[in-house]
Amino acid sequence: MTLIKNFQNRIDNEIKTLFATAENPRGLYEPVNYSMLLGGKRIRPTLCLVGCAMFNAEAVESAVLPAVGLEVFHNFTLLHDDLMDNSVMRRNQPTVHQKWGANTAILSGDAMLVQAYQLCTKAPANVLHSVLSIFSKTALEVCEGQQYDMNFEMRDNVSEVEYVEMIRLKTAVLLGGSLKIGAVIGGGDDESISRLYGFGCNAGLSFQLQDDWLDVFGNSDDFGKPIGGDIVCNKKTFLLISALNDLPDKGRKELKKWLAAKEFDREDKIAAVKNLYDEANISKKTREKMNFYYQNALERLDGIKDCGEIVSKLKEFAHGLMERAR
Ligand code: IPE
Ligand code: IPE
Ligand code: MG
Ligand code: MG
Ligand code: MG
Repeated sequence: MTLIKNFQNRIDNEIKTLFATAENPRGLYEPVNYSMLLGGKRIRPTLCLVGCAMFNAEAVESAVLPAVGLEVFHNFTLLHDDLMDNSVMRRNQPTVHQKWGANTAILSGDAMLVQAYQLCTKAPANVLHSVLSIFSKTALEVCEGQQYDMNFEMRDNVSEVEYVEMIRLKTAVLLGGSLKIGAVIGGGDDESISRLYGFGCNAGLSFQLQDDWLDVFGNSDDFGKPIGGDIVCNKKTFLLISALNDLPDKGRKELKKWLAAKEFDREDKIAAVKNLYDEANISKKTREKMNFYYQNALERLDGIKDCGEIVSKLKEFAHGLMERAR
């Protein structure tokens, strides 16, 4: 079994133990356990343990609870994100707001943010201040990114630069921050930690591009979410921005017509927009952009001091994320 698989199992086991029973009031904690036990990919806590192991394999156990805290934070963002995006399915199951209502998604989500902090405070005392300050900065940036994401739904002139900044905030910094928190617990040197953070953020950009790509070209059973949700919401993804830029006038007009449509059949809009994406060769362009950020990510790893084998495992892991179907 690979090192990374071991870390994933360690995290999964800890989550299974911590979220096995729902305290009272059950209406608050049951949705928390539901979300935590639905089996996401556990990318962020795994990155945290990898970041730690790079500098001190023996410190990995002391990073487990903060790592779980990062996963709880991630799941908190999903509860609120699904409400904001009006998404009814996640990991092939109904979302929390779909199952229990909006108020539950809000309050159980709030409780998860607090739990995430509680878990992060379990970091070793000598690094506690750094861990909490990285975590707080990252958490606030995610909120900023989510706000841009919503603002952009109302605009048709979002640039690629604005898009990249939006996904950097809503998604990428949490991958970078997870590695960074792990590396701080592992006692890494500043230069290596900053390189690792750069790796995580660039891999995170590639990761969100892949999420946007899967939302159009993925298979819903594998992806666990219905295909086309971003198209329905007029999300300013790289795909949409590129299509607006690259389509000839006729296609651009048609795309804008769909963006402006108030009443439409969901499947008709998805099919029409997808056709326009095909016309502008958007699938290929998105994959090229993903690869660009993945290569950027790899460059950041060069020069990290003497972590040998773990760096290559991290590269493999990030590459696997680019090829993922879920
Ligand atoms: C989904 O994240 C939200 C994004 C940032 C794209 P993941 O794809 O990591 O979700 P899970 O936790 O594995 O379900
Ligand atoms: C998710 O972006 C970012 C956060 C949850 C912070 P998306 O809205 O694209 O994620 P999915 O597709 O719902 O998982
Ligand atoms: Mg969403
Ligand atoms: Mg969203
Ligand atoms: Mg998405």
